[in-house]
Amino acid sequence: MTLQNGKNNKRILIVGSNGMLGQSLTTHFMFNNDVYLMCASFENESFYENVKYSKIDISSQSEVKLLIKQFSPNVIINCAAYTNVDGCETEKELSWAINVTGVENLAKYGRICDAHLIHISTDYIFDGENGPYSEDELPSPISQYGKEKLAAENAIKIARIKHTIIRTNVLYGATQFGRPDFVKWVYNSLTEKKNIRIVTDQINNPTYIDDISYAIGKIIEFNKLGIFNIGGAELLSRIDFTFKIADYFNLDKSLITPIFTSELNQPARRPLKSGLIILKAQSEINYHPLSIEKTLSLMKRNLVEH
Ligand SMILES: NC(=O)c1ccc[n+]([C@@H]2O[C@H](COP(=O)([O-])OP(=O)(O)OC[C@H]3O[C@@H](n4cnc5c(N)ncnc54)[C@H](OP(=O)(O)O)[C@@H]3O)[C@@H](O)[C@H]2O)c1
Repeated sequence: MTLQNGKNNKRILIVGSNGMLGQSLTTHFMFNNDVYLMCASFENESFYENVKYSKIDISSQSEVKLLIKQFSPNVIINCAAYTNVDGCETEKELSWAINVTGVENLAKYGRICDAHLIHISTDYIFDGENGPYSEDELPSPISQYGKEKLAAENAIKIARIKHTIIRTNVLYGATQFGRPDFVKWVYNSLTEKKNIRIVTDQINNPTYIDDISYAIGKIIEFNKLGIFNIGGAELLSRIDFTFKIADYFNLDKSLITPIFTSELNQPARRPLKSGLIILKAQSEINYHPLSIEKTLSLMKRNLVEH
């Protein structure tokens, strides 16, 4: 448990700590004796015992102001977001309030205590015509979610706060709580002999959540500012990712039906030829993501036992 508050300890605030990435970050930092950790998320309580926790709605300026004033963080890691991509198309006001206004609030009050804001963004700020993308590629979002995430990046850039924007894509990894990630969904479906339809035309480098937590640790350690792509080691289509999962766990691949994204008739358009080039992170923070096979081996126990 991390409750020391020594003079040299970094005061880290994780916002959205109960989400998929938030859980990985919490476990990454909670046993670090050099860190004085505060977690905050939308739910009444933290999923983890033994961490300091505050319920927060980041779209509320007064709640953000109070928490930041009371905790006075050196580092704020924001992984809170309205992440339902299709929901953003119909819930524009709500999603904007969280994905943009909420980030503006964190930047505004974070700046007052001279915090370093580390914000999680996405490859959905691109149109998916010509990926994989480097950090300096021109954004061109094709969905409301993508527009909001880009607006948040821009809001941070003009807020005059020390900041790092991390762009990532297709997160996966074992979490103890909340909705299953893609790997668990595939594993559970195929184990239960359910047919699944998987798109062949979306290309990404899926990113293991513990790799992002590691990268964030390095960004804090080296005090790196600016934009960093943090993606996985392998660029592949969603169906090839699914086949890899099926192969690794020896599951029945005949249950997987290949389809095109257009057949799903989703409200929000998806960037198809996407993915993120990670050369900058490799050279500047020694970021070397694990292979998909290695991550599946790490997830095995969690999947099989639960
Ligand atoms: N998942 C991906 O594939 C992916 C890909 C690229 C980028 N990202 C980005 O990575 C970040 C983390 O994603 P994730 O998959 O870990 O998301 P997630 O599992 O949906 O977690 C988001 C967390 O934020 C909380 N939250 C929502 N509204 C809030 C509010 N108003 N105030 C405070 N907390 C609020 C959520 O609580 P509730 O659950 O109660 O709503 C949830 O705990 C996000 O910024 C996302 O845009 C994700």
